[in-house]
Amino acid sequence: MQIFTTIHELQTALNAKRQNGACIGLVPTMGNLHAGHLSLAHLAKQNSDVVVVSIFVNPTQFGVGEDFESYPRTLDADVAALDGVADIVFAPSVSEMYPKLPTSVQVLSGDIAKILCAKTRPTHFDGVGLVVSKLFNIVRPDVAVFGKKDYQQLAIIRRLNDELNFGIDIIGGEIVRADDGLALSSRNGYLSADERKIAPVLNRVLNALAKDVAAEFTGKALSAERLAALKQAAITQINESGFQVDYLEILNNNLENPAPEDKHLVILTASFLGKARLLDNVEVFL
Ligand code: PAJ
Repeated sequence: MQIFTTIHELQTALNAKRQNGACIGLVPTMGNLHAGHLSLAHLAKQNSDVVVVSIFVNPTQFGVGEDFESYPRTLDADVAALDGVADIVFAPSVSEMYPKLPTSVQVLSGDIAKILCAKTRPTHFDGVGLVVSKLFNIVRPDVAVFGKKDYQQLAIIRRLNDELNFGIDIIGGEIVRADDGLALSSRNGYLSADERKIAPVLNRVLNALAKDVAAEFTGKALSAERLAALKQAAITQINESGFQVDYLEILNNNLENPAPEDKHLVILTASFLGKARLLDNVEVFL
């Protein structure tokens, strides 16, 4: 495995591999890797010859007062975890990625980046769009893998890829969970021992809601009123367990309000537990 911190070194290595006909796969991350990230690297390996994992805590996607400074940075452990999985680790410094901040060019995301997480983090997806565009241009991958854990991010990156003509094959990896159902996340480390015990409620409630929606609507037209009532009951249940729901929505897979005939839904939530804001989602096929 090769480790590069500069764009020039990375591109020199990649150009040689590309000339030999290698298909390049990219897995962007902010490090502090867990089994969820590693599953994406494995998925990239199944779909490409050379897997590049980038590790970069991207300042432009953190808002004022968010956890950019305290975000866990564990490069040595990350490199050890990637040994045998990735071919190349790209771990640039902030000045390597951003010689000048703020950048003069911005990537402003549209309607899909104004809903859900953007309501509490209004500039977040602009920063994600900017850094992912830069990584796409630096690495020029054939394939890029993102987790469904961040469902809205994945949907935005698919639009970015289509609308800015990157021509990359974007693959969505399934959510990797702890045995009790909690979606793995670098931010789970912010949970106290007591909060960690409460945390799996989030996935349990989403699964129960998904089951209820499937039982009521499989083969039938969706009713907005019934969905709203089911959604409200789930929000109450999550709040009563000690969470504070930021949002919980039942949308179609394009993250729009479902039309009566929609068959592929996704239930998404962001909920606070203490100072941690946990994301989870479950897909429903009717
Ligand atoms: P980060 O939070 O490090 O996540 C990197 C990738 O891992 C994302 O595609 C995310 O969806 C995926 N991931 C996280 N937890 C997962 C889990 N439990 N199961 C499966 N996949 C999981 O998302 C980012 O970084 C950044 O916004 C980034 C795209 C790197 C841009 O800076």
